[in-house]
Amino acid sequence: MAQKKTMLDFVKMKNEGEKVAWVTAYDYPMASFAEQAGMDMILVGDSLGMVILGYENTLPVTMSDCISHCQAVRRGAPNTWIVGDMPFMSYQKSDEDAVENAGRFYKEAYVDCIKLEGGRRATGCIKAISDAGMLVMGHIGLTPQSSGQLGGFKAQGRDIASARELVKDALAVQEAGAYALLLEAVPPELTEFIAKKLTIPIYSIGAGVPCDGQLLICGDMLGMFQVFTPKFVKKYANVAEIEINAFKEYIIDVKGGEFPTNNHVYHILDSKEEFQKLFEEFD
Ligand code: KIV
Repeated sequence: MAQKKTMLDFVKMKNEGEKVAWVTAYDYPMASFAEQAGMDMILVGDSLGMVILGYENTLPVTMSDCISHCQAVRRGAPNTWIVGDMPFMSYQKSDEDAVENAGRFYKEAYVDCIKLEGGRRATGCIKAISDAGMLVMGHIGLTPQSSGQLGGFKAQGRDIASARELVKDALAVQEAGAYALLLEAVPPELTEFIAKKLTIPIYSIGAGVPCDGQLLICGDMLGMFQVFTPKFVKKYANVAEIEINAFKEYIIDVKGGEFPTNNHVYHILDSKEEFQKLFEEFD
């Protein structure tokens, strides 16, 4: 089993040009599969609200949702770097609140770092959490918690004005003390520029190749989330189809008496005659 990585391993990977491959996971089995596959990191994203809990967006997700899913993921992937995602309103109210909630991820769910959304407007809490000794990954571009302000789940930084704001945000996030930055749904030209401009590792979800690694949402890449699929997703499996077909077969078997068979039942240990006598005692 590979040794659990530290932040220094991710710096080394950046310096040596080795890309980081990571996915989201929200529960024990998914985390265990990701670790068995050799994933470099796992994000317990607040996307769990949409992928697992069936909400329309990530806003209803609570601290206790995130903590309990992080705990399950840690149990499934004890040797993998885990990023805990801070849910909406767990860091926006005050820096004190942000430090308190980031600390809960560490103390209750044993994460390796936390991630939060926002550029310049999040620098206060990034600094406060970093100053408290925790690792913060920034997240800019398409930030789902503010998708209302962005006019929906839309790519960002495609025009000069918006690209300029994102460059300023990226610089501010690094300056505030983030150890890494995630860019979501921005053009690769902008990713490349930001990756060259900053010294911290830059990761992409839908932000193209020129950076230090790629993230996908497990529900998207495994074909489990059926509501919509962003343009940047490559589907590596169609788990929904596999599960639906398995459920259909099971229904047919149950209704047709094909399941359970003799192999799926527990056999009596004493003779049939003795069992018959027992039954007769109750007649
Ligand atoms: O919650 C999540 O999975 C995320 C990704 C969209 C980056 O924050």
